[in-house]
Amino acid sequence: MALRHPQLTEEGELNHLLTIDGLSREMIHRILDTAENFVGVSDRDVKKVPLLRGKSVFNLFFENSTRTRTTFEIAANRLSADTVNLNIDTSSTNKGESLLDTIDNLTAMHADIFVVRHAQSGAPFLIAEHLNRLRAREVHVINAGDGRHAHPTQALLDMYTIRHFKKDFTGLTVAIVGDVLHSRVARSNIEALTTLGVPEVRVIAPRTLMPSALAEMGVHPYTDMRAGLEGADVVIMLRLQSERMRGSLLPSAAEYFKHYGLTAEKLAYARPDAIVMHPGPMNRGVEIDSAVADSPQAVILNQVTFGIAVRMAVMSMMAAN
Ligand code: CP
Repeated sequence: MALRHPQLTEEGELNHLLTIDGLSREMIHRILDTAENFVGVSDRDVKKVPLLRGKSVFNLFFENSTRTRTTFEIAANRLSADTVNLNIDTSSTNKGESLLDTIDNLTAMHADIFVVRHAQSGAPFLIAEHLNRLRAREVHVINAGDGRHAHPTQALLDMYTIRHFKKDFTGLTVAIVGDVLHSRVARSNIEALTTLGVPEVRVIAPRTLMPSALAEMGVHPYTDMRAGLEGADVVIMLRLQSERMRGSLLPSAAEYFKHYGLTAEKLAYARPDAIVMHPGPMNRGVEIDSAVADSPQAVILNQVTFGIAVRMAVMSMMAAN
């Protein structure tokens, strides 16, 4: 008998969101459709909705964040939840308390949703399995980025952005460019794009930043950026994850920009109506030229705004189970 994924209930509904891997095409579209209903609320055209009234969302960010932490907080507020941002630097984890003891204590304070970012791949899984073992089914875990493993809500907001601008996934060529080896965003995006039926997913990277298992993931590797961008509808740029690199994988930032930085000249190889995305934070002049980042083809700030509605969708769907 196949083991049930720890993020799904027995009925196949979302109990936690840990990874895109194992989510069906229907489930991803359901999340995007739900997010579409929240766009007005997330834009403040509509006041709060009461779907999480009386619930507490705990943001546990063991790694830095601007976009993810803030948009989760805004999303929780728009759903009428109480939000707690645990200050990790002044918390008892610095006195040796284990991650699961911290979780037990916060659960005792009636946490309903944990939003967890952690440098260790698998940390949100560990918490979810712990809660599942305790049968604390009403307590949910959302992975807000773990090590180089997964960043599911980033992938979902990226899919929302692509669907918003391109309408249909089934005729697209999508190029993901940069430090794929260390990127949880790339992994989650590849899983989402292939699940949604994108016929041509390309990865463009120097050999030292190219994962070995790409063929199994159903994507096409390119080391030449111009060849990889040829005819692309969507270009997703990635940040160089220097904090996760062991040893010197690149000659220099300037050399990297020369070969893999997105300039207007290189972008001209993509389709004229191609959109340019980046999960942020951006390193201008390293992976992307300011002339492109600030151009009408860039939808980078749209991604951030859509992130509020997508995170509202995920939290409201969980709370409904
Ligand atoms: N995209 C993303 O995860 O950004 P933050 O690190 O600012 O949350």
